[in-house]
Amino acid sequence: MKHVTICDHSFMKKILLGTIYIMIKIRRLTHYQLISREYRVVGLEDMDVKNELLSGLTSTPKYIPGWYRYDKEGSRLNDLCLQENENYYFHRCEMNILKANLKSMCSSDVKNSILVDMGSGNCEKTRLFIDHLLLNQEKLDFYPIDISQEFLLDTCRKLSAEYAGRLDIFPIAADYETGINKLSTCSQTKVILWFGSIQSLEAADQIRKLQMLKKTMTRDCQLIFSVDITQNRESVMKAYSDFHARQLYMNSIWRLIRDENCDVDPDNFEMEVDFIKNNSADTMSFVQVLIRAKQANSFTVPTMGITVALNVGEPLYLHEGPGISHKFTFQQIQTLIQKAGLKLADSWVDDEDHVVFCKCKVL
Ligand SMILES: C[S@@+](CC[C@H](N)C(=O)[O-])C[C@H]1O[C@@H](n2cnc3c(N)ncnc32)[C@H](O)[C@@H]1O
Repeated sequence: MKHVTICDHSFMKKILLGTIYIMIKIRRLTHYQLISREYRVVGLEDMDVKNELLSGLTSTPKYIPGWYRYDKEGSRLNDLCLQENENYYFHRCEMNILKANLKSMCSSDVKNSILVDMGSGNCEKTRLFIDHLLLNQEKLDFYPIDISQEFLLDTCRKLSAEYAGRLDIFPIAADYETGINKLSTCSQTKVILWFGSIQSLEAADQIRKLQMLKKTMTRDCQLIFSVDITQNRESVMKAYSDFHARQLYMNSIWRLIRDENCDVDPDNFEMEVDFIKNNSADTMSFVQVLIRAKQANSFTVPTMGITVALNVGEPLYLHEGPGISHKFTFQQIQTLIQKAGLKLADSWVDDEDHVVFCKCKVL
């Protein structure tokens, strides 16, 4: 009798433990499948990476699109740059603003909303918003959009583990436009974050993408974005000439070698960084990053069947358009918001005048 009781207990215990184990497995599997399913469904197949590269390498002047530097290695180098580049004021000042103003940024009128993060990266800043939104709602649906798909998936796995059942993640591994199109089917109230990235788009593209994003927003939605307002040449040059910033930009070349079997020799080039100032109402100051041929040389890109020849002194830009990482005046921010068809609801600036966060709503 005693023996049977012990057996019963241990049998019940085994069933209980087994059930818990299966539940945990199912939960993890559901999350993982959710991530990998979304990952497959909305992957980069919508974007013609090779065609965009080809058009940059065969145009005059030659260029590699700025987003190309963001593969898994590029995202790692970006994180390293944020940690190690002491001259990179932008991230430090963004964090200062967020820590001091999070409550007023994330007002209480956004209960039961979903969270969208454009160019989500490692989600360090996003975590502050996730924590804040979860104070007022039991669960949160989170839609991170990023072109760096492996890194995005890694970040989602970490977030899934950290927030357990309270965060449902729907990653969109894609370029911004594909991401915005995917969002348009989602009718819930959205809090949309876009940190440190609008400024890297060409001026006309900034307006275009904000106009697209606006179409996914209702009156209750809000878009919070940050841009660089630094106009001091010395600060900008120090930040972008730093070793870690250069490594990040050079990843475009290293990725060409890794992914396209390209035989380009980086030693044939010298990197140049410059800051071009503009103060007119709609033309921002910007940074130029290029590698210049030290001697005439050529390289092949076997996956595209092309040979790229450069004359001595010829530049190869590491971004599309005249510049990257635009620096805004307040008037230029107003113009951008107005052309996008949005209205500025609030804004926050840091003490050093490097960064502004804008909260926008639809008109
Ligand atoms: C400067 S980082 C900012 C990361 C993060 N938002 C932050 O504030 O730390 C830019 C991010 O946008 C992503 N990105 C760059 N170009 C993109 C594009 N065209 N479409 C989607 N994501 C892009 C990069 O992979 C990277 O994670």
